[in-house]
Amino acid sequence: MQKNEDPLKKIISHAKEYGFVFPSSEIYDGLSATYDYGQMGVELKNNIKQYWWTAMVKMQENIVGIDAAIFMHPTTWKASGHVDAFNDPLIDNKDSKKRYRADVLIEDYLAKIEAKIDKEVAKGLNRFGDQFDEAEFRRTNPNVVRNATKIEEINKRFKKALEEEDLKDVKALIEELEIADPVSGSKNWTDVRQFNLMFSTELGSTADGASTVYLRPETAQGIFVNFLNVQKTSRLKIPFGVAQIGKAFRNEIIARQFIFRMREFEQMEMQFFVKPGTELKWYEYWKSFRINWHKALELGDENYRFHDHLKLAHYANAAADIEFDFPMGFKELEGIHSRTDFDLKAHEEFSGKKLQYFDPEENKNYVPYVVETSIGLDRMFLAVFSSCLKDEELEDGSSRVVLNLPPALSPIKAAILPLIKKDGLPEKAREIFGTLKYDFSIQYDEKDSIGKRYRRQDAIGTPYSITVDHQSLEDHTVTIRERDSMKQERVAIDSLYAIIEERASFRNVLKKI
Ligand code: GAP
Repeated sequence: MQKNEDPLKKIISHAKEYGFVFPSSEIYDGLSATYDYGQMGVELKNNIKQYWWTAMVKMQENIVGIDAAIFMHPTTWKASGHVDAFNDPLIDNKDSKKRYRADVLIEDYLAKIEAKIDKEVAKGLNRFGDQFDEAEFRRTNPNVVRNATKIEEINKRFKKALEEEDLKDVKALIEELEIADPVSGSKNWTDVRQFNLMFSTELGSTADGASTVYLRPETAQGIFVNFLNVQKTSRLKIPFGVAQIGKAFRNEIIARQFIFRMREFEQMEMQFFVKPGTELKWYEYWKSFRINWHKALELGDENYRFHDHLKLAHYANAAADIEFDFPMGFKELEGIHSRTDFDLKAHEEFSGKKLQYFDPEENKNYVPYVVETSIGLDRMFLAVFSSCLKDEELEDGSSRVVLNLPPALSPIKAAILPLIKKDGLPEKAREIFGTLKYDFSIQYDEKDSIGKRYRRQDAIGTPYSITVDHQSLEDHTVTIRERDSMKQERVAIDSLYAIIEERASFRNVLKKI
């Protein structure tokens, strides 16, 4: 499939058909950018969480976890800067009454020019075949050069306008580029204005003096406000980290691309508190640790790249994204940020409480610096799911759809399948189910032909299918079919626990980090 050809369609439909992800409240036609995880999805999601938590908390001597509330005191968000600066630039079309993110309109415009360049390059490749030097072609072809220059100029002006909060110029750019409403084609735009992305609600009833509270837009602040609680009760010494997995909420205006950008999503974040001056060393350490965590899953090293931020947020002195090659191209999967002492200092100022660490080696108090790793769980789900879903042509001319998940992440580790539904085979299969069920997520299935059952397990990513046949009753052996090679081997029933444990647990993946 070509990258631009509705790349997510197949993934969305497979996720729905096999119980991974459903549109939320679908019987009421769904709620945009909100999704529910089904019976398979919840298992995959839990396994991703377990992989993260084991690597980031259990395996670390100096990192502990917490689970903070979603609601926090409203001043938290004043201190963090979210009340004043967590905004998207919005524009309305006066004719269609539709609302857009001004930056997305401009990005879409740029993507069209990028597509023109790609088309030109493809034409060159067609014409010159093996002799084609793409880099030279991009440097010299007049159409490509003209379009690349145009992209650069638009980007430069747009960035400048945003940095200087010059929303008039953002509107002027949209008008000069003659960007039309994608729905109505109208170019009749309102002014651009900033829109805060936090969801708010009222705490308590209005009668007894309600106050506005926010659904947290990031989990990190729950860690910052608990910095001293954790430090004092754990007696951890700097450097140390606090990790958390939890829901976050953002009123994304353009929420699209399936579970890539949602209004309710989950983050897995870790704040690492360090001595001022050592933060850039730790920033490099966590960049390298996090990319190794990703690569240990063996989804393909070529699917990852770092994107270092050139323009830094006011509180950061270094920041990078780990980008993943999603079906719609390379996009941010995780952020690693050196956040200085901005957050703790801001909370000191707004709360009037000291948030400092006494360093026994230095014999003084200071506000620690923070290096943060922050990954979206749903984005990680999409990265894993989309890169593992394959259409395979088989040697016998047939085809199959297989989800070749790393076994440790698979929702079901093994399926127990009696070859036929009689002759005592179901009973034997259930006996095996009974011995394995305490340690692994397994599935018993006796419906349909064995071939159909294998295909069903392939489609949900089960790495091992265990078939109980007549020989099993005689010699206490079964066949175990491996999902990717489709090879079968005959093994003793007594060895099943050890085989699944060795091949499908996290241990071997974690050892690679
Ligand atoms: N505490 C830092 C922070 O929240 P961020 O770059 O805004 O940084 C971190 O978000 C990660 O959270 C992103 O890399 C992405 O994986 C995930 N994320 C952010 N917004 C999201 C959304 N609307 N839907 C799904 N995931 C999102």
